[in-house]
Amino acid sequence: MMQTELDLFNPASPAEPQWIGKQAVVLPGFALAWVDVLLPELRQIIARAPFRHMLTPGGLNMAVGLTNCGALGWISDRRGYRYSPVDPLSQQPWPALPPAFIELAALAASAAGFADFRPDACLINCYKPGNRLSLHQDRDERDYSQPIVSVSLGLPAVFQFGGHARNESTRRIGLRHGDVMVWGGEDRLRFHGVLPLKPGSHPLLSGRRINLTLRKAG
Ligand code: SIN
Ligand code: FE2
Repeated sequence: MMQTELDLFNPASPAEPQWIGKQAVVLPGFALAWVDVLLPELRQIIARAPFRHMLTPGGLNMAVGLTNCGALGWISDRRGYRYSPVDPLSQQPWPALPPAFIELAALAASAAGFADFRPDACLINCYKPGNRLSLHQDRDERDYSQPIVSVSLGLPAVFQFGGHARNESTRRIGLRHGDVMVWGGEDRLRFHGVLPLKPGSHPLLSGRRINLTLRKAG
């Protein structure tokens, strides 16, 4: 009881997990204690592999800026979507996955019931106000038994979590700085997206939302 009351006055205190599927969960504030480690690592990654607006196979520039770290990085161009060990901008390997990213992802996955998750890819998305991510499935990875771990940083966003067909209704989930979402198993291939980001200013990331999506891609 006492603990619950104290928690109300501690904004850094993580709230209870929220299950949004049999194998999909939001872990509010799970990454808050990691932010001081994550942000300097992010800065170094972005210095070597800057955010860029990749071309869709249809020839449009994606509104969301993206980059990667890890042995594999998700890319898009005229030839389609796929994972590549090399950053097409620099022709160099992507920056390595920082150990803190791997540990955070493994801990979050295990809190969601997925033991022994070891990511080899981290897609890093940068949203500016107005940017959205249309409904899609994550299906470029080799092994769908491996979950997806998504870490939200900066401005809050509304995440859409749908069904196994694009036209099924979606649930709206508010994701704030430090929240972690994990989905896998029977929920692994659900359609999902992000509604247009509302303008705002975050004390650490100013007018942006950065999302880390950790995966076992290879
Ligand atoms: C994604 O689906 O790749 C990113 C989701 C998010 O930004 O929360
Ligand atoms: Fe996705």
